[in-house]
Amino acid sequence: MSNDTQLSLFNESSFNQKDLIPTDSKIPIPADTYPTIDDLAQHCRICQRCELGKTRTHAVVGRGNLQATIMIIGEAPGQQEDETGLPFVGKSGQLLDKILASVELNTDNDVYICNIVKCRPPENRVPTLDEMAACKPYLLEQIRLVNPKIILLTGATAVKGVTGDKRPITKIRGQWLEWSGRLCMPIFHPSYLLRNPAKEKGKPKWLMWQDIQAVRAKFDEIRNHG
Ligand code: URA
Repeated sequence: MSNDTQLSLFNESSFNQKDLIPTDSKIPIPADTYPTIDDLAQHCRICQRCELGKTRTHAVVGRGNLQATIMIIGEAPGQQEDETGLPFVGKSGQLLDKILASVELNTDNDVYICNIVKCRPPENRVPTLDEMAACKPYLLEQIRLVNPKIILLTGATAVKGVTGDKRPITKIRGQWLEWSGRLCMPIFHPSYLLRNPAKEKGKPKWLMWQDIQAVRAKFDEIRNHG
């Protein structure tokens, strides 16, 4: 063996994307497949595990701090997200950023944002159960790699996609639950708040304000006591 070949055995990345092209949703993607989010994103960009791969412009993987304490999981990319390749950059994303800013949280430091499915469903329809299942291994790998202490699930589809709980979001929002050893809170989807902007006590925006303050308090508790 030449010196160069011997030295190449010291290379850090053994990830070979050609060995792992997930063109069939029945082929599992086991835990620990991706060394980094970049490796995962490479796969998402060529993924055809479901029909959404045929119509996407960009796969939308995530944005924010890769070491964030809080991960926010939405439903699916919309038009602007499909065009830019970034989650929550349209109207609901702008509102989400404002909600975070109201308790001094942001994606530069504290938050990483992603979705249940990485590709835009046509006409912004809700992703099907099969689409969510085909994409779930990517989400599980994102959660493993970012390793957030708190997960916020925005809207009923995100709750169903992660935990399987089918209850309406109005019944479960604001309640902490444990899923896979992680602390999660279902919250309203920002698009619901855009459609229901009432702020009076007990109304959607007021409820969101209670929830995000509870999130901030838990964030501080974790930061101060581990
Ligand atoms: N709605 C979502 O659930 N996710 C996005 O990325 C944008 C809008």
